[in-house]
Amino acid sequence: MLRVAGYGNTVGLWRHSKTLASSVRNHAVLDVLIALEKCGLLAQLGTQHGVTPAAPAEFDAVQLKAALEYLTEVEILEQLGRGHFRVRKLREFPRLRSAVYAAMAYNRPIRQLHRLIRGDDRYGAEISRDDQYDAMASEDITSRFYYGFATRTLLGTNGASVLDLGCGTGAFPAYLARHTDLTELIGVDVSERAIAEGRRRGHESGPVRLLVGDAMALESTAAKLKSTPEIVSMMFVLHEFDDEGVERILGSIHRAFPLARILLTEMILRETEEALARNNTALPELRYVHQLSGQVVRSRDQWVHLFDRSSYRLDRRDEHQLSNTQCLVFSG
Ligand SMILES: C[S@@+](CC[C@H](N)C(=O)[O-])C[C@H]1O[C@@H](n2cnc3c(N)ncnc32)[C@H](O)[C@@H]1O
Repeated sequence: MLRVAGYGNTVGLWRHSKTLASSVRNHAVLDVLIALEKCGLLAQLGTQHGVTPAAPAEFDAVQLKAALEYLTEVEILEQLGRGHFRVRKLREFPRLRSAVYAAMAYNRPIRQLHRLIRGDDRYGAEISRDDQYDAMASEDITSRFYYGFATRTLLGTNGASVLDLGCGTGAFPAYLARHTDLTELIGVDVSERAIAEGRRRGHESGPVRLLVGDAMALESTAAKLKSTPEIVSMMFVLHEFDDEGVERILGSIHRAFPLARILLTEMILRETEEALARNNTALPELRYVHQLSGQVVRSRDQWVHLFDRSSYRLDRRDEHQLSNTQCLVFSG
């Protein structure tokens, strides 16, 4: 899979290092894929039929063909008869698409990094990531590693109905519908685009309902529900907020669903050396974008302390060392 980061080197260095060369290539490939997504062509490349450069009248056929041929030479695409291009490994297309979305989410701050480093601009004020693309990217990253683990903790709570807050495309509620007997599964996310994408991917079926809603103001979401959830799950959501933001969200959950328990799934805080030691995972990139965008990875004790300030007590904790994840269950 393409790595999300891997930036800037000279051609001289390129000749001397295979690793650097592949980083530069990944970077160029990502940029071309980002351009194709901006033209609305990425999804089409992941279909059986693919893209024909001459066909879409609104594009420059020479430029488009050059880009598609380049991606074919680096073995991302394949060329079929009659000038069709499509992704070589169609089954891996969702992972490729997620890598592109993740890169798009952080494209602006990375491109303007010199301004952030020099202090000309501040993250969150003049420069921010693209939240819509971030919400869409996270499904593939989280689904492969964490859903099974979080589900085991969830089933241990004996809760019958779950609201997944900050659900992105709603892939986790859809997974729960396939792998458990839970009968009421609600996914809520502030990103309209992520919810629309989840519906397009078919995640809203059977017991799953997806809603656009703000974690800071859950009362209006609660008014749309037939019954109140027994568990509110937040998977890789709260680290996006500072302590004050977390307290506002916990207050909102408590007002909307006073009896619900909370299942928190978050990364375990680790030091740089460990991140480097696991260099064949995306952990260094995750850690870097967290720092770049002011996200806060907290230790278990820090979470417990923070929840305690909103009168939530720890009931249960599970850790999954391999995926570097913790699941904490709190009751109010
Ligand atoms: C890192 S993603 C995690 C998505 C999903 N839970 C997963 O594990 O794949 C964080 C999600 O929180 C959502 N989010 C951020 N602020 C929110 C808010 N105020 N209310 C609801 N959702 C929010 C984002 O749109 C994004 O989908």
